[in-house]
Amino acid sequence: MTLAIKSKIFQEIVDGLQANPASISPKFFYDELGSSLFQAITHLEEYYPTRVERGIMHSKLAEITKAIAAVDVIVELGAGNCEKVRPLLDSIVPKQYRALDISVDFLEAALADLHQDYPAIDMQAIATDITEELLFTDLQDQKILFFYPGSSIGNFDPPEASRLFSNLARECHGSGGLLIGVDLIKDIHVLERAYNDSLGVTAAFNLNVLRQLNHVIGSNFSIPDWEHYAFFNQTRDRIEMHLRAKSDQLVSWPGGHRQFYAGEMIHTENSYKYPNATFLKMLQEAGFTEVTAWTDPESNFLVCFAGFK
Ligand code: AVI
Repeated sequence: MTLAIKSKIFQEIVDGLQANPASISPKFFYDELGSSLFQAITHLEEYYPTRVERGIMHSKLAEITKAIAAVDVIVELGAGNCEKVRPLLDSIVPKQYRALDISVDFLEAALADLHQDYPAIDMQAIATDITEELLFTDLQDQKILFFYPGSSIGNFDPPEASRLFSNLARECHGSGGLLIGVDLIKDIHVLERAYNDSLGVTAAFNLNVLRQLNHVIGSNFSIPDWEHYAFFNQTRDRIEMHLRAKSDQLVSWPGGHRQFYAGEMIHTENSYKYPNATFLKMLQEAGFTEVTAWTDPESNFLVCFAGFK
């Protein structure tokens, strides 16, 4: 990492810690331990999105494949352990697979495993922050399928999500498209249980961000003095995750500090849940002219293919 990027990240974190209320971007969750903790979350009984999405991909794969038709390249956004793409590699057989993620160490190991099973597909791991502008100039003549599973789109505010959709629609140049999974609004108890699991894995995932901050900016957060807090904000249709101070404490880092008081919170993540129709409309408004969607029998989760007529 260059010095300029390091100081930009330092400044971004410090600005968040100094804000009122304080915040930390969820992108800092995903150091090596954070990525492993997220993988553990996806195995939890309470955390249904991964399981339900996998079920839709499995039961509707033939229809999904037909809607997508042939593409040259699959570009997966936030690829993580690169496991979700396997059914698509089997059914679509692209020439190339590009895995994009913020945490490259985890990504490279996952991609090496995947490549062993699909040696004929050219594979590339790219470390990038997809909240920044994405440009695929070298893929201009290729038919691209963007793949964004796992409802990670829920971690963007809706206007940011719309902006990302417009960028992706533009990068498609009228062919290929976007296959995306999104979590739907449902019973508040089901939603809140998914972010307050009984083993405390989500709490550990949330608290781990303080460990990561201590490492990245040299702060002195004392992790036992903070607790996980997550709830569904019904006005804004989102799960909010926060870290709540258990006692008054002064947190310092090179060149600055902040006094936190007992009960004060640091906002760490939003996870938006959508009504089905709203989400389809956002994709259409971004420039995709044909949107097809599949859901599970309980309408917990939605998988959409947004393409072109
Ligand atoms: C990555 N993302 C879709 C997860 C979510 O559900 O918003 C992150 C997560 N946060 C807590 N549990 C899982």
